[in-house]
Amino acid sequence: MDKQWDQRVKSLFDLTGQVAVITGGAGSLGEGVARGLAVHGATVVVTGRTMETLQKAVAQVEEAGGKAVAITSDVTDEASVQALADKVMTQFGRIDILVNIAGIARRHPAEKFPLDDFRKVIEANVTGTFIPCKVFGEIFVRQKHGKIVNTSSVRAFAGHPGGYAAYGTSKGAVNLLTKQLATEWAKHGVNVNAVAPTIFWTPLTQEVLEDEKLKKIFLDRIPMGRAAEVIDMVGTTVYLCAPAADFITGQVVYVDGGCTAG
Ligand SMILES: NC(=O)c1ccc[n+]([C@@H]2O[C@H](COP(=O)([O-])OP(=O)(O)OC[C@H]3O[C@@H](n4cnc5c(N)ncnc54)[C@H](O)[C@@H]3O)[C@@H](O)[C@H]2O)c1
Repeated sequence: MDKQWDQRVKSLFDLTGQVAVITGGAGSLGEGVARGLAVHGATVVVTGRTMETLQKAVAQVEEAGGKAVAITSDVTDEASVQALADKVMTQFGRIDILVNIAGIARRHPAEKFPLDDFRKVIEANVTGTFIPCKVFGEIFVRQKHGKIVNTSSVRAFAGHPGGYAAYGTSKGAVNLLTKQLATEWAKHGVNVNAVAPTIFWTPLTQEVLEDEKLKKIFLDRIPMGRAAEVIDMVGTTVYLCAPAADFITGQVVYVDGGCTAG
């Protein structure tokens, strides 16, 4: 070890000069992750379907002194994601990080689950993770580097009586997709990992938050006794995008206050 080694240690979480694309970048978690990656030096591209909400996320990053741009895309539409990648390459000449946060939830008892809702969840959460992985993965494989972080959930770890036939199944698929891509792309210098959080109080979980009985059931399952906060997810995502995680791939990191520990 020498001074150069110390310098490397200091840079373990430094993303300066890197370009990161965040799907679902206007959502509650996406906005926080965008700002968090920018605080660590990345230039951030937030993407989603509505320019107006994306502009809010850009303003968040700029408030933190970071650089961000908004580009619309639909993660379930390959041509739209390809157009996004082309625009990012034209504007910045590089892409280093993809964070897939876009997702939806629908809960119903399995025996009454409307097939249309089931398909929508699978389409948004599974196909909508695969398409950006495929499009940006092609670039990462070619350039021989890239970090992908997918968003899973504790619902991928075990079943839950609360109507998660579609959502849990979709996140289980995200876990295996993460491992599959990690094993295919490791030899090309591409890392693929996932963050699997427990519940946050965001619009996605509004129906749980509004039902005191249900809210208690959820919190009782978390040994640390609280919901996740956006910053909990930001820390893990920054880590998985940073040089600190260069030797980590194919992992699902549960950010869950001990929920899946016992
Ligand atoms: N909120 C929670 O408690 C929780 C817990 C575990 C995992 N997650 C996961 O975290 C992610 C973000 O959740 P959130 O709470 O921020 O939800 P959110 O609804 O605030 O954000 C999700 C974003 O994804 C976007 N999106 C959905 N479908 C899209 C599509 N086809 N193309 C482009 N964008 C699309 C939405 O417009 C929205 O901006 C989701 O994948 C969710 O499953 C959330």
